[in-house]
Amino acid sequence: MIGDHVPETGIIKLQRYSIDHLDQIRPTLVALYTEVYAADIEKDPFFSVERFTERLAQHASRPSWEAVVAYDGGEAAGYAYASPLPEKTGWWVNMLEPLTDEEIRETGDRTLALFELMVRSPWRGTGLADRIHESLLTGRTEERVTLLVDPQHPKVKALYESWGYRDIGGQQPFPDAPIYSTMLRNAALTGALARTPTPYLFLERNG
Ligand SMILES: CC(C)(COP(=O)(O)OP(=O)(O)OC[C@H]1O[C@@H](n2cnc3c(N)ncnc32)[C@H](O)[C@@H]1OP(=O)(O)O)[C@@H](O)C(=O)NCCC(=O)NCCS
Repeated sequence: MIGDHVPETGIIKLQRYSIDHLDQIRPTLVALYTEVYAADIEKDPFFSVERFTERLAQHASRPSWEAVVAYDGGEAAGYAYASPLPEKTGWWVNMLEPLTDEEIRETGDRTLALFELMVRSPWRGTGLADRIHESLLTGRTEERVTLLVDPQHPKVKALYESWGYRDIGGQQPFPDAPIYSTMLRNAALTGALARTPTPYLFLERNG
């Protein structure tokens, strides 16, 4: 457990971090993961903290990895992190149904992979996940964004659909991982889903 689970001031600060700050924020990323995924950690080795830190190290080894952490007062409330798919990515290899060559074409800067997004319970249902997500995408130059969501969590999937993502098929990224729905959206939204950026109280860029 971290903190007493009582939202502090309601003034949320979103802080952006580059790879240069990973050592500084790793304990926070791991602590929030440990809390948010406690039930999964208990019953499935794929979700163990050790496996999470291995995945984090791998994702953060890619160029232009970034994270956005939300703080309520001094307390971390949630975060997201992402990095672009490399030209020779394994991301599309594990699709259950093949996609077209154009759909899986990667250049190293075409597709941002959103690897983690989580918000601690007291701050859920407040729009914070949306703000963290939009903050992370702001200023990125990739053309599209992809993420994996467990289809057993239809409400989370519906949330992503409300953010403009669409399901382009199932995939199992590791032999012992769940079968996830692969979601994709344009990085910049147009039409009915387009909106002006959230007016953040604070938005700082580090590194
Ligand atoms: C996904 C998340 C960031 C969204 O935060 P949010 O925008 O505040 O939205 P909520 O937490 O209110 O979730 C929306 C709905 O999905 C449900 N939901 C959220 N996480 C869920 C999970 N892991 N399993 C099943 N349902 C879940 C919520 O109960 C809620 O349903 P409700 O509207 O009936 O109350 C947050 O719920 C979270 O951190 N979940 C746990 C980690 C996770 O699943 N991350 C996504 C990985 S792809």
